Amino acid sequence: MSADTARATPATATALGRLWMGAAWYPEQWPEQRWDKDLALMQAAGVNVVRVGEFAWSSLEPAEGKYDFDWLARAIRLAQKHHIFVVIGTPTDAPPAWLTSKYPQVLRVDGDGRRAEHGNRRQFSYSSSLYRKFCRDIASRLAQRFGHDPDVIGWQIDNEYSDESFDPDTRKMFQDWLQQRYKTLDALNTAWTTTYWSQTYTAWNQIPLNDKSGNPGWMLDHKRFVTATWVSYQQNQIDAMRPYVNPRQFITTNIGGLGLSDNWDHYAITRPLDIAAWDPYVGEGHLDFYRHGAVSDYVRGWKRQDFWVMETQPGFVNWAPVNNALYKGEVRAMAWESVGHGADAVLYWQWRSALNGQEQYHGALVGPDGEPLPLYSEVAQIGREFETASAAIAGTTPQSDIAIITTYDSRWAIDFQPHNKLYDQLAVLLDYYRPLDDLTHSVDVVNAYAPLDRYKVVFAPSLNVIPADLAQHLADYVRHGGHLVLGPRSGMKDQFNRLNIQRQPGPLVGVLGGRVEQFYALDQPLAVSGSIGSGTASILGETLSVQSPSAKILLKYGKNRTWLSGEPAAITNSYGKGSITYLGALLDPALMRRFIVQELHDAHVAALFPPLPSDVELMRRVGKSHAIFILINHGPGNRVVRLPVVMHDILRGGRDVRTVHLATQGVAVLEESNAH
Ligand code: GAL
Repeated sequence: MSADTARATPATATALGRLWMGAAWYPEQWPEQRWDKDLALMQAAGVNVVRVGEFAWSSLEPAEGKYDFDWLARAIRLAQKHHIFVVIGTPTDAPPAWLTSKYPQVLRVDGDGRRAEHGNRRQFSYSSSLYRKFCRDIASRLAQRFGHDPDVIGWQIDNEYSDESFDPDTRKMFQDWLQQRYKTLDALNTAWTTTYWSQTYTAWNQIPLNDKSGNPGWMLDHKRFVTATWVSYQQNQIDAMRPYVNPRQFITTNIGGLGLSDNWDHYAITRPLDIAAWDPYVGEGHLDFYRHGAVSDYVRGWKRQDFWVMETQPGFVNWAPVNNALYKGEVRAMAWESVGHGADAVLYWQWRSALNGQEQYHGALVGPDGEPLPLYSEVAQIGREFETASAAIAGTTPQSDIAIITTYDSRWAIDFQPHNKLYDQLAVLLDYYRPLDDLTHSVDVVNAYAPLDRYKVVFAPSLNVIPADLAQHLADYVRHGGHLVLGPRSGMKDQFNRLNIQRQPGPLVGVLGGRVEQFYALDQPLAVSGSIGSGTASILGETLSVQSPSAKILLKYGKNRTWLSGEPAAITNSYGKGSITYLGALLDPALMRRFIVQELHDAHVAALFPPLPSDVELMRRVGKSHAIFILINHGPGNRVVRLPVVMHDILRGGRDVRTVHLATQGVAVLEESNAH
């Protein structure tokens, strides 16, 4: 689905048709007479949306079957008096004490068999049919009451799905799920090679469920089961709400966002939702703009459309080892960076800290006295700027010529057996992303099964699991003229997490015209060189061989005492109208950049902008008749950027500019002037 089609539904048009800025607001934690002052302060800061309700079950249903939604209705009305719209979270991440004490069987059980107790959140079992009955009831009643409320623009289901359960019912469900998938124990035993260590199962109820490491086939299937269980947990609430929810209101969930979270498959979770939403937090330290950009691009890839930042930190958090505050201006830079990568909303968590509760030290926008904290004025600046830029940004979205592809199967398979503890998949992805972003300013990060034809080059840094259908998809892309680059570990496994018998890259050996002879964890950097230059490889290295006359060696390891000495480290082959390259090493940044430059050159990817000063990030969002460029100076010094053409400086009255001056954390939002 193209971004334009995605925007066409009423729900996505609501969510993505303008810029939203807001906060998580918990009216149930404060006396009602206080609400108006909070909302007035929000309005003054440019807040146009609040998210409410996602932990308020004990206030919405104080006793079983006794509901009180009137306070929420009054909060929504009052918000609208201040021109603030509302997203309602279903409260199911925090079941009330009456529920968990009367029905303790809904409580989750951890991997060591301990049942959770009340007093925190996330204490429910995600598979419990009884718990799901209560979820259905509260979600459907909320939808009946507010599904046509003109001031409610959307719904968030639950909150950051996180913990699975290992109770006996879930174990039985896992076994049933496997039976449905494999039909016979013979098929399962073969797929998992259970003759190894006498793991052979002769009855379905012998199959274990725990959080320890074990057979890789069993582990991969458990992750898929976890995904299927969260998908059905979520669908239970979607089904309860859809009949009552106006098509204009979107349904989403907020996905936890420290890095590439991977408990379950995010493509599967976001498929039935109208929009994707996530919660990026920096935690300790400062904004790593490549990392935040890459992960934002990956979030945009879940549904291949713009998304919401449903929560982010107002300066600092309370849960990192050191909860330092972001620098002055850094919260604003991060907000604009999110927008540059496809966010259409940024909401701060939270408006005001509860006087008690587990997160008293977390950053907020007003203090315990109800007066603005220092960060309030910076957020108010973001609010003003979003208001100014909203019309120009509406209907635009990032557009890339290149993509990085991933799959959850590969992510999980590598995490189960990293082979070198230093092999960190986000770090590996960023090794590709940094030069790609510097050189093209726009990278899609998408599921490997997504349509790829629009991309000139596709990079697969860690595609460990390549079953036959994926190999076919990738081979078709190359045959039709695409350029595919595979990184180390590619195609080692099939869909059962079993070793591919062709060696790497498995079913793509024929397309590559070569293969991996052996993989090695590296305990020291090794020299590598080729026509693009020389440098080093570290952490993991593979030796390749060429098996077809059309295949060529691009890089070789230097002479050394290891098994990699003098062997090919990268090979390339032309295939159909395109090409395939296998890079079997993790290169140092300088050589990696030269490698990427060469790939982009070979695929005729043109530069969007002249080279930028260091620490300056450029992002582009494209609309039907215009383009928006966002420039951010993430570094400590002042920077000057000469634009290739005259543009309108939207945050400075729309005047025409050719040169932009950016102080530290400076942001410019520019509209391409001659595109109308
Ligand atoms: C998020 C969570 C919020 C709040 C926040 C604090 O993960 O969804 O409810 O706890 O962290 O940083």
